[in-house]
Amino acid sequence: MMASYTPMIQQYLKIKAEHQDAFLFFRLGDFYEMFFEDAKKASQELEITLTSRDGGSADKIPMCGVPYHSAAAYIEQLIKKGYKVAICEQTEDPKAAKGVVKREVVQLITPGTVMDGKGIHESENNFIASVSEFRDGYGLALSDLTTGENLAVFIERIEDVMSEIYSVSAKEIVVSSKFNEHTAAQLKERCGATISIEDGEITERIEIAKHLPGEELTETFMRLYTYLQKTQKRSLDHLQPVQVYELEEAMKIDLYSKRNLELTETIRSKSKKGSLLWLLDETKTAMGGRLLKQWIDRPLIRASQIEERQEMVETLINHLFEREDLRERLKEVYDLERLAGRVAFGNVNARDLIQLKESLKQVPSIKELVGSLNHKKAKERAGLIDPCGDLLDLLEEALHENPPLSLKEGNLIKDGYHQKLDEYRDASKNGKDWIARLEQQERAYTGIRSLKVGFNKVFGYYIEVTKANLHLLEDGRYERKQTLTNAERYITPELKEKEALILEAENNICELEYELFAVLREKVKQFIPRLQRLAKQMSELDALQCFATISENRHYTKPVFSDNEVKVIEGRHPVVEKVMDSQEYVPNNCLMGDSREMLLITGPNMSGKSTYMRQIALLSIMAQIGCFVPAKEAVLPIFDQIFTRIGAADDLISGQSTFMVEMLEAKNAIVNATKDSLILFDEIGRGTSTYDGMALAQAIIEYVHDHIGAKTLFSTHYHELTVLEDKLPQLKNVHVRAEEYNGTVVFLHQIKEGAADKSYGIHVAQLAELPDDLISRAQEILKQLEQTGDKPELPAVSEKKSAVREEPAQLSFFADGEKEQKAPAVSNKEKQVLEAFKSINILDMTPLEAMNEMYKLQKKLK
Ligand SMILES: Nc1ncnc2c1ncn2[C@@H]1O[C@H](COP(=O)(O)OP(=O)(O)OP(=O)(O)O)[C@@H](O)[C@H]1O
Ligand SMILES: [Mg+2]
Repeated sequence: MMASYTPMIQQYLKIKAEHQDAFLFFRLGDFYEMFFEDAKKASQELEITLTSRDGGSADKIPMCGVPYHSAAAYIEQLIKKGYKVAICEQTEDPKAAKGVVKREVVQLITPGTVMDGKGIHESENNFIASVSEFRDGYGLALSDLTTGENLAVFIERIEDVMSEIYSVSAKEIVVSSKFNEHTAAQLKERCGATISIEDGEITERIEIAKHLPGEELTETFMRLYTYLQKTQKRSLDHLQPVQVYELEEAMKIDLYSKRNLELTETIRSKSKKGSLLWLLDETKTAMGGRLLKQWIDRPLIRASQIEERQEMVETLINHLFEREDLRERLKEVYDLERLAGRVAFGNVNARDLIQLKESLKQVPSIKELVGSLNHKKAKERAGLIDPCGDLLDLLEEALHENPPLSLKEGNLIKDGYHQKLDEYRDASKNGKDWIARLEQQERAYTGIRSLKVGFNKVFGYYIEVTKANLHLLEDGRYERKQTLTNAERYITPELKEKEALILEAENNICELEYELFAVLREKVKQFIPRLQRLAKQMSELDALQCFATISENRHYTKPVFSDNEVKVIEGRHPVVEKVMDSQEYVPNNCLMGDSREMLLITGPNMSGKSTYMRQIALLSIMAQIGCFVPAKEAVLPIFDQIFTRIGAADDLISGQSTFMVEMLEAKNAIVNATKDSLILFDEIGRGTSTYDGMALAQAIIEYVHDHIGAKTLFSTHYHELTVLEDKLPQLKNVHVRAEEYNGTVVFLHQIKEGAADKSYGIHVAQLAELPDDLISRAQEILKQLEQTGDKPELPAVSEKKSAVREEPAQLSFFADGEKEQKAPAVSNKEKQVLEAFKSINILDMTPLEAMNEMYKLQKKLK
């Protein structure tokens, strides 16, 4: 079958067979072509025209292509959609080829291994992961090709693996073909990642992985490394020694809670704006931005580590001028980590090296500045900074100040760096000087004032004389080169000779400069480990100055750590405060500890219950990453984990119902929390019917109280639950204060001791301008319910049912008890609405659901 194809298509099919899971970009002249299924799929995904060509078989072969020079944008589009692209180049000179030109795949670009393009955010890592399953858990390895960072961790539960992958937003996960299919599918869905298979032989341990403890991590990392090698087919010298960590070293925040607390992106728009990361980000370098995100993802749990950061932050707060200076200098420091990556990859250009040089120039003063800070730790830090002065000298000596992007046009290397280069440059310059003088000379000699000496790429140097002046030229001295409409261009033997000299010199210059640059690049390669260390130091300084800056600007306080006590005086929600203008924000206290491990929060809708709960979690996270916190005073324990059950995180992807997600999140907390954890349960049980939900809520509170003892904030609409305070010694009621003013509620957003006396749901409905009749009816029902206590029957509604049935023409439903009023006639439509309204069980609805229902009904009537 294959034999009937042309040799080129046969070659294509052979290569394609090895890259089934990637689009094969097959280089043909100035295009990358795709054939067969690839072509069909690519033409759809990229919206490019599908054509066809003869390939030796009876049917034409589907084909589409993209121009070589604009391929990057197309590749990026495919990668973004989770595809892989194999770049297949001609690897021999077509002129020298016998038969079909040799072609090979030179690089496989995958979502986890892209090095540049819009997909790479400068303030985010681009991690690729690999997961292996073992008897008692999972090995997880992470690698960022752009920065050279490598991490490895052993994790017992797959949920925690997913959390880790989610929090670093790895776009690709490498597994062996034996990996559990179901788990792989879950990973793919939950993390939105591409799954890649790698079964290659795990070769001998490489240097950066030598120290890995145990076979599990070695196998996991080596699988990833093998995959990287196979796809990249080039030097991976910049990969740093694998850093082994343990989940227990950091505060654990599961995937749901990270999302719920909007640590690095908001729930609704999935954007950074509005998240904690957005609020805190006062970093000046891309590396610092990435480190900040890593810190937020993994808050510390060891007091000594937290305090070390705190001390630096405090010192920087106390040295305003030095800090401002540091910020100015850091602004000039480019992304050393990614520069180092590009040096290793061999795709660094002269402008990159200039950036490197400019960055290194800042380091001595940064070192001095940090050393001058009045703190032992700062001085130690400064002492450790290696400014790589030898590299700076090398770059200053070698590199031209203003090099072009291209490496083939010269202008890369400074005068005086290389003798031969200087000679060529002299030769070229002499020649050019001679030519510059030629115009004057020839004008004098011929007497033609308009005579010009010029240069163009096709004809080289020439002397141009207008047709009117041709008679003034001496016979035999000028050789005609080109004829224009009203001028002739000439050359003289002398000019020809100089031209040859200049061109040769320039050619030599470009070639030599390219060579010298390549050598320089190799030399810079030797500095990669030192540069990476420097990058780490700079990014830490940047993240620490960021904390100092934000803490001072927003008047944060240094938190103090306690064993068990929470004492936050005048705390604020950092993000809400920023968004709403701080004068309006009402600060709140939070006191927890002995005999107050759990707080039951009641209060009207919209009063600020959720905000208050999130605030405590965010303050704890900020404290444990080393930042100061928005409060007048803050004493906090060090939490080992934070769990949240906060609405609005419907897991649409996994297709689970809201209530199921609610229960899963609750389970996650109940199973894993310890007495050192923080749990936020925001209106648990709201998603099911009243008594069902209330029963669940009470059972959950009792369970946490009796079996876990974690610090717990539990907000609820069920006032009935407030009686639990008498039964459970660790539970205290608090409420958010609201007041009635002229018949409407005023939210004070103030947390007070004790239970709320009233639910103001009806007032909120009123604020939302539901019909007056409806509001007064709701008030009536409420009154009746309050009289009957908490009996589950809904007597008011059932009574009315019969009333309507008996006297259908009467609108007694709305005008309750005023039968003497004249009833208007009721249309069919109105009857339908009434029927619908009757069947609604208001007590089972959230206020929002009630509003929606009202809206629908009202619309029907209009
Ligand atoms: N301390 C505060 N100071 C000023 N405004 C606040 C404060 N707390 C909350 N708010 C404002 O009140 C709004 C409602 O807050 P939140 O969502 O926390 O209320 P809630 O009690 O949880 O409401 P629901 O019961 O409907 O869930 C917020 O959008 C915020 O703008
Ligand atoms: Mg709420």
